[in-house]
Amino acid sequence: MPRSRNSSRSPRSREETSSWPYHHDRDLTGFIDGTENPTLLDAPDVVLIPDGSPGAGGTILLLQKWIHDSQAWESLSVEKQELVIGRRRSDSIELDAKPDDSHVAITDQDRFGKIFRRNMPFGTVTVHGTMFVGFSADQQRLVAMLESMAGLASGTRDALTAFVRPVTGAYYVVPSSDALRRWVADESDDRL
Ligand code: HEM
Repeated sequence: MPRSRNSSRSPRSREETSSWPYHHDRDLTGFIDGTENPTLLDAPDVVLIPDGSPGAGGTILLLQKWIHDSQAWESLSVEKQELVIGRRRSDSIELDAKPDDSHVAITDQDRFGKIFRRNMPFGTVTVHGTMFVGFSADQQRLVAMLESMAGLASGTRDALTAFVRPVTGAYYVVPSSDALRRWVADESDDRL
C-alpha cells in the first residue's frame, strides 16, 4: 500500500477526557467495577488476537462514552438498583434470581464470550458518565453484547439503558508492541 506523504508527521490529540476514581473501585453507578473480569494472568488469553490470525498479538478495543441520568439513578432504592445491575451493591454478589433485563444477564459472558473491561467515571457536576473501555480478541463478542443491551438478541432491552445513554462509540485495532516496532523500523528504512 502506498504510504501517505504525511505518514511521518506526529499524531495530534483531537480530544482529551479526564477520568477520576470513584469510591476506590466503583463505577459511577456505585457498584464494584470489573467483578467478572478475568484475572491479569488469564486476561492475555481473552484479549490478545491469537498467533496465525491477522493482527496477532494485538487486541480490539471498544471505547464508548455513556452519559448518566444520575438524578433518576440515585432516586432508586438500593434494592431497585440491584435488580437493574443483577448484583448486590455492597459486595457485588450476583443475585440468586436476577431479572432477565438486568445488565449482567444481558451481557452474560458465558453466552457471548469473555472480554476485559473497565468503567471509568468522567465529567463534571452537571454532565458526567462512564467511559466504557472494553478489550477482546474477537470484536464479535463486543458487538453481540451491545446488540443484546439494545434488545436485539432476545427482544429484552438492558434495564441499565434507562439510566445511561451512549454519546460516542468506536472500535479500534490496538497493534501489538512488536507490530509497532516493525512499523517504526519500516518507516525509518523508507526515510534513508
Ligand atoms: C454506562 C455503561 C456501563 C456501566 C455503568 C456498566 C456497569 C457494570 C456493572 C456495575 C457490572 C457488574 C460488575 C462487574 O462484573 O463489573 C457490569 C458487568 C458487565 N458489563 Fe457493564 N456497564 C456498562 C456498559 C457495558 C458495555 C457497553 C458492555 C459491553 C459491550 C458491558 C459489558 C459487561 C459485562 C460483560 C459484564 C459482566 C457480565 C457477567 O457477569 O458475565 N458493560 N457492568
